[in-house]
Amino acid sequence: MEQTKHTGPVVNAPVVPGRLPLLGHALQLWRRPIAFLESLRDHGEVVRLDIGTWPVHVLTSPDHVHAVLVQQAQRFGRGRVFDRLRPMFGNGIVTTDGEFHRKQRRMIQPAFHRSHIAGYAEVMCRQAEAMSTSWTAGREVSMVTETRQYALSSVAEMIFSGDLSRPAVAEVHRSLPVVLEGMLLRAVMPKSLDRLPIPLNRRFDTAAARLRQIIDQVIAQYGTAEADRAAQEGRHDLLSLLLSSVDAETGATMSAEQVRDEAIAIMFAGTETSATTLAWIFHELGRHPEVERRVHAEVDAVVGDRPVRPTDLCELTYTNRVFQEALRLHSPLLFTRRALGPVTIGGVSIPAGAEIAYSPYALHRDPALFPDPTVFDPDRWREGAERPRDHRYVPFGAGQHKCIGDSFAVAEILTAVASVASRWHLTPAPGVTVREVPAGIPQPSELPMIPVARR
Ligand code: HEM
Repeated sequence: MEQTKHTGPVVNAPVVPGRLPLLGHALQLWRRPIAFLESLRDHGEVVRLDIGTWPVHVLTSPDHVHAVLVQQAQRFGRGRVFDRLRPMFGNGIVTTDGEFHRKQRRMIQPAFHRSHIAGYAEVMCRQAEAMSTSWTAGREVSMVTETRQYALSSVAEMIFSGDLSRPAVAEVHRSLPVVLEGMLLRAVMPKSLDRLPIPLNRRFDTAAARLRQIIDQVIAQYGTAEADRAAQEGRHDLLSLLLSSVDAETGATMSAEQVRDEAIAIMFAGTETSATTLAWIFHELGRHPEVERRVHAEVDAVVGDRPVRPTDLCELTYTNRVFQEALRLHSPLLFTRRALGPVTIGGVSIPAGAEIAYSPYALHRDPALFPDPTVFDPDRWREGAERPRDHRYVPFGAGQHKCIGDSFAVAEILTAVASVASRWHLTPAPGVTVREVPAGIPQPSELPMIPVARR
């Protein structure tokens, strides 16, 4: 039996109070998932909850999360949430593990290299400019919709480029939101309900099929005349890169089907996450005028009144702290792993095949790890401040499944914040209470804001 460092007797995980026969903790999770997940730390560092009859061991200490994600990662597979996503998203890196995942990640990684991010950032700058110039002073905008459109465009333009891909980008805008909305429910509901002919299932299945179909069409085009043109143009979109990538260790290439699965996986992982983070940043700026003033001052000094350029991003140090702090407060809710053999974590024995989960959201709001955790304070991240130890802060996860798109997300989000801040002061629409709605990253229930021209 493998152990994480611990002295003392090995015990079973304490069961979180309130478990009901058959339902387990499902009602608590259903009624108030965010508060319930946060409350788990009161019951121990490794605690057990049951979703129906499905037991899950939740890690509430950053050291144990680090052990599972990094130090002993090879002892854990993906877990049930990812298993449930696989029929919808295929075998892309988001749902796979083990040797297959390692090989795929090796082949995809170059597409996220710094040199390519700079190219994607050019497109992000144009899109952020288009978003912020489309608004009218005094006319309310929904920042939930705007940030989602922006994130969808950023990811779609990274995956496809060239005129032949226009219908694919349009299809992504139409179908991906439907898939993302249905996905969370699918991931937690029993598999037997997938086939029920209810509108939710029908809409979801149709949207997922359309996405697969359109990407297959684009790949078929890339395989013919388009491939020559792409080569001539030196195109660097993700599909071109994946279709031409060769594994340095094995010499293997990817099948068209695998390229499609990877494209879908990246769309799925890279859209809602960035959109939600960006929406929360605008919300926090709207609530903290002093923070907004400092962002404006920095953007004025670095960007002035011209459009944002990719080279500006590394100079936006205060804006970057705002981003880090928004990501701390508004983090992903839950990810799962599965123990491949029996393990002991923090003195708690976990049987082979058991599900394990960690919540960046709950860790980042733990008062033992971050003083005054609900206070939005970008200065936590300033140079010289006593910064939180690395593995307390895991908005992008850690180890072999760490977010492959983290640098992409930083570029995307800083570009949008700078572009908006150079033109607008966004004030919250009066009389609206913004609530957190459970999702991959809890989302703002709504976010109407009013642009006020700065110049
Ligand atoms: C602020 C935005 C983002 C956040 C907070 C975020 C967060 C995360 C986290 C926590 C994981 C690890 C999940 C685990 O432990 O199982 C992850 C994985 C992943 N993310 Fe992100 N992500 C963001 C943006 C993006 C973007 C923009 C892309 C792509 C364009 C992307 C692509 C991926 C992929 C492909 C994986 C799976 C990596 C693997 O298993 O090898 N993410 N992300």
